[in-house]
Amino acid sequence: MIHSSILDTIGRTPIVRINRLAPEGVEMYVKVEAFNPGGSVKDRLALAIILDAEARGDLKPGQMVVEATSGNTGIALAMVCAAKGYPFVAFMAETFSIERRKLMRAFGAKVILTPAAHRASGMVKIAEAYAQKHGAFLARQFDNPANPAYHRQTTASEILSDFAGRRLDWFVTGWGTGGTLTGVGEMLRVARPDVKIIAAEPAVASLLKGEEWHPHKIQGWTPDFIPNVLNQAVAHQILPVTDEVAREAARRLATAEGIFCGLSAGGTFATALDVAKQAKPGDVILAMLPDTGERYLSTFLFEGVNEGSDEEL
Ligand SMILES: Cc1ncc(COP(=O)(O)O)c(C=O)c1O
Repeated sequence: MIHSSILDTIGRTPIVRINRLAPEGVEMYVKVEAFNPGGSVKDRLALAIILDAEARGDLKPGQMVVEATSGNTGIALAMVCAAKGYPFVAFMAETFSIERRKLMRAFGAKVILTPAAHRASGMVKIAEAYAQKHGAFLARQFDNPANPAYHRQTTASEILSDFAGRRLDWFVTGWGTGGTLTGVGEMLRVARPDVKIIAAEPAVASLLKGEEWHPHKIQGWTPDFIPNVLNQAVAHQILPVTDEVAREAARRLATAEGIFCGLSAGGTFATALDVAKQAKPGDVILAMLPDTGERYLSTFLFEGVNEGSDEEL
């Protein structure tokens, strides 16, 4: 298949059946966003925001693009900006993985680290001030309506088309900006009103349940505020998941299904396994897997994995 740009390969990600980890009587599927060229669901948002800004005339040829990001959005914007010729500057908390920083720099981006104590909301403010000072375009993933709009047009349409004429009872996703939850959730509520939408959150930061935010290890999930693009009326149920349970699920997806994904994907899949416990026989569950595990090799997700030889010669 010949494409005119790497950006044309964003989206149309595969939905894969879970064969060994699904409990008996329940059908489970995952949408594997690692197949995007930048390795995560955030490629969709990055392309959406840049295309929208170009169309509105908010982004001029060669103008600097700036964003506050937990990493995947930065990697995705770095890729889109490299392909389109915009300089890109990412502001990222120092707690996010080394792989994320190096990936962005590999795409030619500048990465500026912000102190962990500032949390996500502080990081956003620093990026805003920098963009204003340099006359840059600020992507504003947490506020930009192009984010959920693109999930309505692409992620949701792909799911509707792949499940056309097939049973689907549950859709499970976590949230970072809420773009996926809002875009897919809103479309499913209209087109497939019987599908129950489940939002997964870190157990220590269950903001949609009105609980207090505490630091968690699931990079990309649940900042310390509820973003403007997140439609809180979309989810039928909100389920908590711990860092450790998310890690176990991500590792089991790799070892039992051959699906290599990140910690938030593990959290989403663990939540889908919880949903399977309340599901009726024959129910079909779809879970989002937002990114690849390769950008977590230095993190909690693979802590304790042997780096030497597994057997002596
Ligand atoms: C690893 C990871 N998982 C999940 C999400 C959540 O996606 P969304 O921003 O659409 O809520 C993100 C994005 O922030 C992410 O980077």
